[in-house]
Amino acid sequence: MSARPFFRISAAVSALLAVTGLFAVAALTTPDVTGRAKIALDAVLVAIWAAYVLQLIDTLIIQRASRSRDRTPAIAVDVLAVVVPLGAFLFAGSRDQSLYCAIWLLKPLRDSTFFRMLGRVVANEARNLVGVTSIFGIVLFGAALAAYLIERDVQPDRFGSIPQAMWWAVVTLSTTGYGDEIPQSFAGRVLAGLVMMSGIGIFALWAGILATGFAEEVRRRDFVRNWQLVAAVPLFQKLSSAALVEIVRALRSRVVPAGTVIFRKGDVGDQMFFIVEGHVSVATPNPVDLSAGSFFGEMALITGEPRSATVSAATEVSLLSLYAVDFQVLSSSNPDIAEVIRKTALERRGAVPKG
Ligand code: CMP
Repeated sequence: MSARPFFRISAAVSALLAVTGLFAVAALTTPDVTGRAKIALDAVLVAIWAAYVLQLIDTLIIQRASRSRDRTPAIAVDVLAVVVPLGAFLFAGSRDQSLYCAIWLLKPLRDSTFFRMLGRVVANEARNLVGVTSIFGIVLFGAALAAYLIERDVQPDRFGSIPQAMWWAVVTLSTTGYGDEIPQSFAGRVLAGLVMMSGIGIFALWAGILATGFAEEVRRRDFVRNWQLVAAVPLFQKLSSAALVEIVRALRSRVVPAGTVIFRKGDVGDQMFFIVEGHVSVATPNPVDLSAGSFFGEMALITGEPRSATVSAATEVSLLSLYAVDFQVLSSSNPDIAEVIRKTALERRGAVPKG
C-alpha cells in the first residue's frame, strides 16, 4: 500500500512514454542512426521498458487489492508491453529487436474510455455492420468478375484472372484509385464509374451506422448517469417509473466550479436547476444558501419574468437542468410536482422585495 505511489504512472505519462518509444523505434530504422545516437535511442527504449515493468507491477497490485473491478484488458496490455520486447531481446536478431517495442502502440488504448465506447458501439451495431460488409463483399466480387469478363482480352496481364481483377475492384470501390490498373474498354470504364459510386454509398452507410451508434451510446450513458443523479432529488422520488424515464431523458447534468455565476438577476430564464451535490448562493437581500435536493430558477419559468436574483455556486456543484419546454411537459403529466414547484416559487416570491 505504502510503496504504490512511488511507481504510479498516470494514463497521460504512459501514453507519452509510448509515443516517445515509437518515435525511437521509427528513428532506429533509419540507416543514418548509428554509434552514439543508436546507443541513446536504445537507452530510451530500455528506460521506457523499465517504466512499463513498474506499471505492470502497479496494475497487478491494484487488481489484487480491488477484486471488484476487472482490469483484464489493462493487465493484458501491460504484460504484452513488457514480455514482447523482452522476448525480442532474448530471441530475435539484433536488427529487428527494437521493432518489437511497437507493441507499445497498444498502451494509449489501455486507459482510453473512447476505445471502450467504440467497442460497445461495434458490438451493438454488429448486425448492421456485418450487413454492410456483406454488401461490400458482394459488390467487390461482382465488380472483379465483371472487370475480368470485360477486360481479360484487352489487358490479360492485369485482368487475366478474378484475383487479379480483385485488386482493381478494391482500389476502385474504396475510391483510392492508384491508377496502376485502368480499364481500357468503354464498358470497363462505365463499370468503374458504377463501382466508385457504390463505394461512396457503402462507406457512407458504414459512417452512418457508426455515427448513429455513437449518438445512441452517448445518450444511453447520459441516461444512466442522470438516473443515478435523479435519485438525489427528493422531489422526483414521487414520480412513477414511466414519468421518471421521461424526466431523466429531459434532464441535462452539469458540474459547475465553486464561485461561478450560474445566472444573473435580470437574465432571461429558459431553464431551472436541481442541486444534486454542493451548495449555491442566491443573492437576495438576505442571501439564501440552497443545498442538495433543492431547486432554483423555477420562478422565471413560471412567471415568464427575468431572473429575480443572481445565483452562484458556493461550492463545486452538480446540477441537473430542465428546459422550459420540458418543464411544461412535466407539469402537465405530473401536477403534484408542478404544484410543489409552484408553491415554492410563490413563497420565494413573497420573500423577494418588489422592484
Ligand atoms: P428565478 O427568478 O428564475 O432566478 C433566481 C432564483 O433564485 C429564483 O428563480 C428562485 O429559484 C431563487 N430564489 C429567489 N428568491 C429566493 C428565496 N427567497 N429563497 C430561495 N430561493 C430564491
